[in-house]
Amino acid sequence: MDMRPIGVFDSGLGGLTAVRALWQILPEEHLIYFGDTARVPYGGRSQETLLKYARQDVRFLRSFDLKAILVACGTVTTTALPTLQKENDLPIVGVVEPACRRAAAVTKNKHVGMIATPASVRSGAYSRTLHGLDPEIRVIEKACPLLVPLVENGRVRPGDVVIETVVREYLEPLRQSGIDTLILGCTHYPLLTDVIANVMGPEVELVSAGEEGAFELKRMLKSRGLRADETQRGESEFFVSDRAEDFENLASLFLQEDLHHGARRIDIEEY
Ligand code: DGL
Repeated sequence: MDMRPIGVFDSGLGGLTAVRALWQILPEEHLIYFGDTARVPYGGRSQETLLKYARQDVRFLRSFDLKAILVACGTVTTTALPTLQKENDLPIVGVVEPACRRAAAVTKNKHVGMIATPASVRSGAYSRTLHGLDPEIRVIEKACPLLVPLVENGRVRPGDVVIETVVREYLEPLRQSGIDTLILGCTHYPLLTDVIANVMGPEVELVSAGEEGAFELKRMLKSRGLRADETQRGESEFFVSDRAEDFENLASLFLQEDLHHGARRIDIEEY
């Protein structure tokens, strides 16, 4: 048993899709969440910048005595995970492998779509991982750079003509390609599940990278004997690198719960 907290981070709100799942499957765990809201979006940035940001995010989280970190960000997972794992002496879990494993398990026609940020698509990490799991899987990938800024502005509801138009334009080629499974490879995208599902239709299974990362974290904690006392209830603390109020409002909307201690602002450049 290990009562130390788990660090979770993303560029902004996207990692909340993992937090929502963690609250369901590991309610006893204490979470320290960091959203790098001053520098979101990460998805269009270079490998070097992303590595610098990811190292700072991890250094901030490690100012707490953590037992593990969940990189609840597809972009950081695809570009920096192995380096972070090498440089840190605690378990660090990402979202790509678990999302690919789930997609490989659910696809029937072996035709899988993957949407993510430009940096994640450029990295080729999702298609490499899928092909490693099953060389027969055909993968069609699409970068969707406009989705993260829209999500960060709370434009996530079906009926919002702006988000619906953008999602339809990105997804139409994937819909027509005959995929039966779509990986939401950026953790922001599951916040658009209803809008995406409306475009893709009920035959296409959606796989949430944020959720699958949470399941993977649970498996890892269990296998290493790191779970907290299951009779306890964990608390979650939220930190951001820009205006706390904006994050709090949207976060409580997405989590359907008020953040108990609000969100606190830190200066990420100090780390
Ligand atoms: N939510 C992140 C991801 O999973 C980052 C998106 C962004 O900041 O561009 O890729």
